[in-house]
Amino acid sequence: MKILIKNIKSLVQVEQDVRLKVSGAEMKKLSCIENAWLAIEEDKIVDFGEMKDFPGISDWSNLQMIDATGKLVLPCWCDSHTHLVYAGNRESEFVDRINGLSYEEIFKRGGGILNSAKKLVEATEDELFESAMKKIREVILLGTGAIEIKSGYGLSFEAELKMLRVIKKIKENVSIPVKATFLGAHAVPVGVTKENHIENIINEMLPRIAEEKLAEYCDVFCERNYFSKEETIRILAEANKYGIKGKVHAEQLSHAGGVEAGVASKAISVDHLEFANENDISILKNSETMATILPGAQFFLGLQNPPARKIIDAGLPLAIASDYNPGSCPSGNMNFMISLACINYKLTPEESINAATINSAYAMELSKTHGSIAIGKQANIFITKEIPNYSFIPYSFANNPVETVILNGKIYK
Ligand code: NIG
Ligand code: FE
Repeated sequence: MKILIKNIKSLVQVEQDVRLKVSGAEMKKLSCIENAWLAIEEDKIVDFGEMKDFPGISDWSNLQMIDATGKLVLPCWCDSHTHLVYAGNRESEFVDRINGLSYEEIFKRGGGILNSAKKLVEATEDELFESAMKKIREVILLGTGAIEIKSGYGLSFEAELKMLRVIKKIKENVSIPVKATFLGAHAVPVGVTKENHIENIINEMLPRIAEEKLAEYCDVFCERNYFSKEETIRILAEANKYGIKGKVHAEQLSHAGGVEAGVASKAISVDHLEFANENDISILKNSETMATILPGAQFFLGLQNPPARKIIDAGLPLAIASDYNPGSCPSGNMNFMISLACINYKLTPEESINAATINSAYAMELSKTHGSIAIGKQANIFITKEIPNYSFIPYSFANNPVETVILNGKIYK
């Protein structure tokens, strides 16, 4: 099977040399080919160039031709932070917040993550699987081509395993890469002390998860009233022993040392960062850890802006993900996430597209195969509707610019 896309108005995020991530001032550059063609064979990108240099077609067998006149082609979005396996929704808490309660107050009353944990216990694996697959299908049609999914609404051993098995089944049934993250340290379950919960995570859950190969990453919600910096380091050190790398929910509602804990644990990413400070930025400079912002959650909870501009201006790489979850971001629309980053944090369209493709691929260790248009990379791309240029994507906020998604060399339907 071969696909040839011709007359592409602009082929966006083209790489000659494969990079693992883009940092600092480099993020302002987005390499494009105007009036381009792109060839796909089997599941890979095999060639591309300018229409004026198009070599013609020598072998028409099994070839599907797509005319992309007036349209752009981009690598699919990479969403490196989601919690999209969940039961029910939390719109009543949304109304509580409108009426003046804070996210933290709702949690203290047994809502928030604990509310989702209660709903999750009652749901069957099949129900969780079906509703997650529906969400994944929706985000793929919005251009998402790789996704990370966390557990963390189970909290008990059994319910966490249930979530991770659902994620495993999703992996086996979707045509995009899925990375699973164990987030047992999302909150302390009702009726258990924090010390016991951490002991459970370390002595029961992690060994079993490693044995069943149920997670690539281990995450901790490092936050006051949840898990401290020291507890985060302790949990991630245990995970590292099994070759499970860390991720951290860091500095979201307060400054709690999540960035420090993440960097000390060689975490693949530290995410949220609303309360990250200058010291955190300098700590990140000496690391391979990807700073990741989740503009949808910051927007939905009305939190202060993360220092996204400062992070890039300090020469660091930055990634964007959705945080798709029922409590702080009930949307996985990456087009909207990059709009928010441009509008609220003054990222340029080039910076936010780099952040939502190659850098968010890095935050899932997928940047060798995803996150850009390069020869040999996975054919994981989308064709836009007729739009004038890539800046139109964040500009035209809350609209869907995507017309056709191609995954593994096949049109996704
Ligand atoms: O990334 N902050 C912690 N975890 C999620 C929200 C979880 C929830 O409210 O269900 C987040 O924002
Ligand atoms: Fe999250």
